[in-house]
Amino acid sequence: MSTPADNTPLLHSTSDEARDDGPWASETPGIAAWWGSRSRDAVSLFTILLLLGVGLGIWVYGTLPTSDQDEHPHEYALHTQNILTHLDHLLDIARAHNNSRSVTNGHAASAQYVIGKLREHKVDCDVHVQRFVSPVWTQDAEPRFELRGAVGVEFLHATDFRVMRYGGSEPASLRDVGLATVEDACTAEAHDKVAGRVAVVRPSGKCPLFEQAFLMEQMGARAVVFVRSARYRVPSNARVRLVDWKEGDPLMSVPVLSVTHSVGQVLRSTAEGGRVSIETHGRIELAQTFNVVCVGRQGAEGDTVVVGAHLDSVAGGPGINDNGSGAMSALEILLTLTRIGYRPRNRLVFAWWGAEEDGLLGSRHFARVLAHGWRNRWSDAERLGLRWHDIALNLNFDMLASPNYIALVHNGTDAPRDARAGSQRIQRVFEDYFVRHDYPYKVTDMLAGSDFLPFVDNGVPAGGVLTGAGEIKSIEDRIEHGGLADAPLDTCYHRDCDTVLNINLVALHKMSKAAMYAVSTLSAATDLRDFLAGKTELRL
Ligand SMILES: *[C@@H]1O[C@H](CO)[C@@H](O)[C@H](O)[C@H]1NC(C)=O
Ligand SMILES: *[C@@H]1O[C@H](CO)[C@@H](O)[C@H](O)[C@H]1NC(C)=O
Ligand SMILES: [Zn+2]
Repeated sequence: MSTPADNTPLLHSTSDEARDDGPWASETPGIAAWWGSRSRDAVSLFTILLLLGVGLGIWVYGTLPTSDQDEHPHEYALHTQNILTHLDHLLDIARAHNNSRSVTNGHAASAQYVIGKLREHKVDCDVHVQRFVSPVWTQDAEPRFELRGAVGVEFLHATDFRVMRYGGSEPASLRDVGLATVEDACTAEAHDKVAGRVAVVRPSGKCPLFEQAFLMEQMGARAVVFVRSARYRVPSNARVRLVDWKEGDPLMSVPVLSVTHSVGQVLRSTAEGGRVSIETHGRIELAQTFNVVCVGRQGAEGDTVVVGAHLDSVAGGPGINDNGSGAMSALEILLTLTRIGYRPRNRLVFAWWGAEEDGLLGSRHFARVLAHGWRNRWSDAERLGLRWHDIALNLNFDMLASPNYIALVHNGTDAPRDARAGSQRIQRVFEDYFVRHDYPYKVTDMLAGSDFLPFVDNGVPAGGVLTGAGEIKSIEDRIEHGGLADAPLDTCYHRDCDTVLNINLVALHKMSKAAMYAVSTLSAATDLRDFLAGKTELRL
């Protein structure tokens, strides 16, 4: 950029004489005479100078950094208030569906709300639903677990033992069944002894938990009890199910319990003579659910940006922060882009995943169908007009408004090798936003399961922001990010108090705009693939 001082040679060149003996060349008293004799020249010189000055001024003004609002209009066009209005509607939906928006409660009504908004605002995209089957685990009464014999012990639910999620397809009642201890439940050998008994198993690292439980069931065990290592004080509430479950895959029929280390010791010491009674009330239902996918009609198909958020909640709460905040921010971003007439260079696809809380089933289904050609009974009728290799990247928005939030950006270096370089680039786009606004932020791992996993696992770079769930804020984080130390980032995580009152407005404001910045920037980038490969800088 030029400064006015650089301009003087230009002025000199307008008159050789002025350069040779102009007023700045001498301090003689003759200056007034000189000025008088040159006054006509001077007037024209003055005019030229004035014109140049005005022109220069306009040019300089044009090159000066403009306001943040001028440079990032999309961010400013997004109104947090509108996201809150959507969240109010989601809360109403939850209230009308047993205070939940889970697969079997208010998910379908939430999806209707999203589709209604897309239609009402005439968003330029083809709206698809993509159906799939999700196993849904419920447990409507407390289980009982008792050791019988010379020493009778009634164990305490949640303290001594738990029924693991998806551990049993039907309620069960076992009375006085013998025990069998198993050292390695990954191999079928020498397990004949479990037939007709309750298998007490120390989980092995050699194969997945589900495989161990399922093998015991196949060998005739009437229940499986996993003994936790001494490191844990409480029994596990994990899922006993194939991580990547799809329709047709097996599920556990017999009950699966987790017990603490000390309960395990009691069971093992009495194993040969011990008998137990078990009463469970868990069941697995197969429910139909779906993703809502809005495939944009503008922009380069080969450089598609998929923006995703999950729309379901857990069964035990309305899920307004988790993850209504991400899903409704994504909705409002799309409605805002439509309102301001944004035309993406790269195609935008918005996806609201179903059954995330049951193990990312919606996004896994999407990847399985598109990346691996998997078909269920609906897929042929539900073609999305989208090919996996057209997807350049995925942005995922989960919880964006945790009350005791930290602004978190996913660490692209954690992504598998095929998706790493691109995920690092996406991370940097988010970081640019926080740096520009001088907001504190923290890089967090990408391992914590959310809907970007099926993308990075299939070679598509991904990234996103979030504000934290049940983890406790450290004193260091409190100093850097504010809020309350020694308290969870979201006290209402997966609880019935996750309502609109649980939304942190400052967090929602910052994070939804971070999301908007990334969506508008990456969908406007030229040579998006080269940028993601680290070959070029970001160019709009
Ligand atoms: C309603 O929610 C409560 C609490 O989560 C649960 O115990 C009950 O089974 C649910 N009822 C239905 C019909 O889903
Ligand atoms: C990101 O992840 C990589 C690999 O796991 C790790 O080495 C690095 O320290 C992480 N960065 C931050 C800022 O946490
Ligand atoms: Zn959740």
